[in-house]
Amino acid sequence: MDKFVVNGGKPLHGEVTISGAKNAAVAIIPAAILAEGPCIIENVPNISDVALLTRILHDMGASVRMINKSTLEINAKHLTSQPVPYDLARNMRASYYFLGALLGRFSKASVPMPGGCDFGVRPIDQHIKGFKLLGAQVELENGMVNVSAERLTGTQIYFDVVSVGATINVMLAAVKARGMTVIENAAKEPHIVDLANFLNSMGADIMGAGTDVIKIRGVEKLRPTTYTIIPDQIEAGTYMVLAAATKGDVMIKNVIPKHLEPITDKLMKMGVEVEEFDDSLHVRRPGELTGVNIRTMPHPGFPTDMQPQMTVLLALANNTSIVTEGVWDNRFRYVDELRRMGANIQVDGKVAVVEGKGSLTAAPVKATDLRAGAAMLIAALAANGESQIEDIYHIERGYEEIEEKLRALGADIRKISTPDKHMKKAL
Ligand code: EPU
Repeated sequence: MDKFVVNGGKPLHGEVTISGAKNAAVAIIPAAILAEGPCIIENVPNISDVALLTRILHDMGASVRMINKSTLEINAKHLTSQPVPYDLARNMRASYYFLGALLGRFSKASVPMPGGCDFGVRPIDQHIKGFKLLGAQVELENGMVNVSAERLTGTQIYFDVVSVGATINVMLAAVKARGMTVIENAAKEPHIVDLANFLNSMGADIMGAGTDVIKIRGVEKLRPTTYTIIPDQIEAGTYMVLAAATKGDVMIKNVIPKHLEPITDKLMKMGVEVEEFDDSLHVRRPGELTGVNIRTMPHPGFPTDMQPQMTVLLALANNTSIVTEGVWDNRFRYVDELRRMGANIQVDGKVAVVEGKGSLTAAPVKATDLRAGAAMLIAALAANGESQIEDIYHIERGYEEIEEKLRALGADIRKISTPDKHMKKAL
């Protein structure tokens, strides 16, 4: 088991370049199945979630090769619709995009029930509703979701909740269906738009991505394409908060400033200076932090995937703030870890009251999920002294070369390997 050892309390300075968006990549990689020829995907982040998806594709008969560090070629011409391998897919939420992609290509799919970060119950009823309305039969059997159809037919689908995953899965399934599919109450996240742009570059006919209503006119065939993934909104937001938490001064390059507006707005209200350029942001913290209230919401609201990181920053402010989680039922599990570092946070259901104390203290903590892990890193880098963060495999699922990027900004961080818990027991 690897862990990070961090000597915090040093302002971060310099430049950092943001990688391709994880949540776009994990949709676009399965979507490449829809073309029966080689797709070239650029700006792919080098993270373990991507490695897992490409391994699944390879095991299912696709040819997958890295052309360079961030360019991937996927040729799914010889892929056959077969069950997605259980052991590889069950722990990764995004593996359920193989449902939509295989259904779109072969009219059938069999995929393990998805796992992923634990934020309470994570149902897939809206995905199933969409597939059924498109004419598919859906069965749950032995931990697998089996979907099949004679032929998918375009239809009107109203989602009862705004769901990124269901919007993506229905887009993937509907892109080659007969006729027009209309998704109402669709998710509007930047990665939804990125997936639509990718599919359109293959010859799909998708309109309205980024709004509440997405219209998909089914086409016969999709052709191979070359496509560049957008920069990661959440990685960029995480470095913005890191600069602020460590009283730093950081130029964040390769970003889309528009995607970061909800974060920029809150940071500026807290007293952080954020200067926008075409594709970069300069973030600097000149003085003390003022608390603000935050409510997470689907895009264009404040992103839930930035909630733990911002909560750390609010714990470093000098007054009280309220954080309301508007997307997930249970996304405050990491607060127990933050309390070890001296944070004063009371949680009641989906609301956390953060009594900012101006500083945090170093402590041994663990990453309870991906973004919670990023929050622990921020807290450790802000706190004077040595902190250790366990279970960093969560962080490596979604942040490319985080240790190297942080070190280049002057952070004192190193990764060490310790025998895993089972080994310890055996000894
Ligand atoms: N929901 C349902 N039924 C469904 C689907 C979702 O009730 O069929 C509910 C969920 O329980 C939740 C809400 O709808 O309360 C939103 O869930 P959504 O489907 O939008 O989430 P997701 O697709 O599973 C993606 C990201 C998450 C991010 C959420 C919200 C990927 C791979 N994951 O998850 O990202 O938190 O959207 O923006 O895109 C992360 O990157 O750390 C991460 C967890």
